[in-house]
Amino acid sequence: MLVIFGASGDLTARKLVPALFKLYRAGELPQNFVVLGVSRSDLTDGAFRKRVVLDSPHLSDENDNGASDEQIKGFAKRFFYEDVGSSYDSDYQQLRNRIEDLNDMFNTGGNIIYYLSTPPTLYETIVKNLANADLNTQNNGWKHIIVEKPFGYSLKTAKELNRGLQRFFDESQIYRIDHYLGKETVQNLLVTRFANSIFEPLWNRIYIHHIEITNAESVGVEKRGGYYDKSGALRDMFQNHLLQIVSLVVMEPPIGDAPEEIRNEKVKALKSLRIMRDEETLKNNTIRAQYVASEIDGKKIKGYREEEGVAPNSTTETYAAVKFFVDNWRWHGVPFYVRTAKRMPTKVTEVVIHFNTPPHQIFKDSGIRGKDNKLIIRIQPDEGILIKFGVKVPGQGFKVERANLDFYYSCLAETRVMQAYERLLLDAMQGDATLYARADEVEAAWEFVDPILDYWQNGKNVRMYGYAAGVWGPENADDLIEGPGNWRNPGEN
Ligand code: BG6
Repeated sequence: MLVIFGASGDLTARKLVPALFKLYRAGELPQNFVVLGVSRSDLTDGAFRKRVVLDSPHLSDENDNGASDEQIKGFAKRFFYEDVGSSYDSDYQQLRNRIEDLNDMFNTGGNIIYYLSTPPTLYETIVKNLANADLNTQNNGWKHIIVEKPFGYSLKTAKELNRGLQRFFDESQIYRIDHYLGKETVQNLLVTRFANSIFEPLWNRIYIHHIEITNAESVGVEKRGGYYDKSGALRDMFQNHLLQIVSLVVMEPPIGDAPEEIRNEKVKALKSLRIMRDEETLKNNTIRAQYVASEIDGKKIKGYREEEGVAPNSTTETYAAVKFFVDNWRWHGVPFYVRTAKRMPTKVTEVVIHFNTPPHQIFKDSGIRGKDNKLIIRIQPDEGILIKFGVKVPGQGFKVERANLDFYYSCLAETRVMQAYERLLLDAMQGDATLYARADEVEAAWEFVDPILDYWQNGKNVRMYGYAAGVWGPENADDLIEGPGNWRNPGEN
């Protein structure tokens, strides 16, 4: 049984139910699957079914075209609703009765996922009340809880949150969802590295010059100004999604694919990021910026500070770029450049591995620079892997031109590609936590991010750059990249 707290909220209708529906249509949900929606709104089962299934605009996207009425109705019948105030004991007794009834009705064996799709401030109250009502014990079926980000606002609050959850649930029962880990291409980082023998020997300081990770979105903060202004690019994307990607790029080969074997290596990777502590280092290695009012194709775009819910003098960044090093044997001296931003020219996430120049250039007329061997792992869109290398231009002499060796996931069209939430929900049902963030991972990530946030908030004369919508951030961001380099903007060679 999936018990969703905050069931009348946006995430349930927009992400969770569509993901469940796809799984249902693909026949991947267990036979006895049932959803109990929980929130403070006064809804009947019927009204809840209408809201999140029968009348939901989110079930009609193109992938789901072709679903018959019968299928939708059959799916809706699995949905139930209970009105629960998160802090009332009596409501939890009532919740317990309802859960027991549904357990019997659907023969679930008492296996339950509690999905906390509520503000994190409610997490502790909810888990405490679940425990008081004896709804956390695993004597009669397993009990997992899934929590959404943000996992804390800083290292201190993340620790408090973790300890709060761990008072009532064992760490092995806690699933912290990071939807980037549900993306096929993020998982493919592991396969590319550890199922092949051609990349791993080059995956180190001897052959790699530097690594770039770009995460760009063309949208602004949309209707989430209120949330975003308290968060910013570093908390919203970097601390979680991007450092998760970093950990998969940086980690050592695990001894197997068991969840803890992989997660142990990821924690080690995150703990080896060199934490920047002094102002000079922070100043030279971080850049923050906000999008300013601008025009694209004659259309006026609001500046960040004019967005609804954003303070007119806000110092929250919508662009963050960070250069850092990894203090271990493999990565000694290799700079990592990671940036994330809203209002960029396009939506794209990619990892670019820049290889070293050949030690001796024999083709004087090569026309391309030696550092131009690149491996590009395209996380989204046009998911795939691209290798850039030099080939001879036919004709006299040795003119070298850049060629591409490209693989696109779309070439594997036969296979149904699961969306992130589908994959992650299914994993939590099967008790596989590989793609969920463990407490120590989250804390290690905050440990790296905290000093940057602190410097940006409290440092002396920290610059906040501006950039127009539709450009690749402030020009000064190129200053981070060593030598004559620039950021590689996706789409460029
Ligand atoms: C969320 C952030 O976690 O990820 C959003 O809160 C962001 O601000 C979103 O837009 C991006 O996700 P994706 O999958 O569209 O890259």
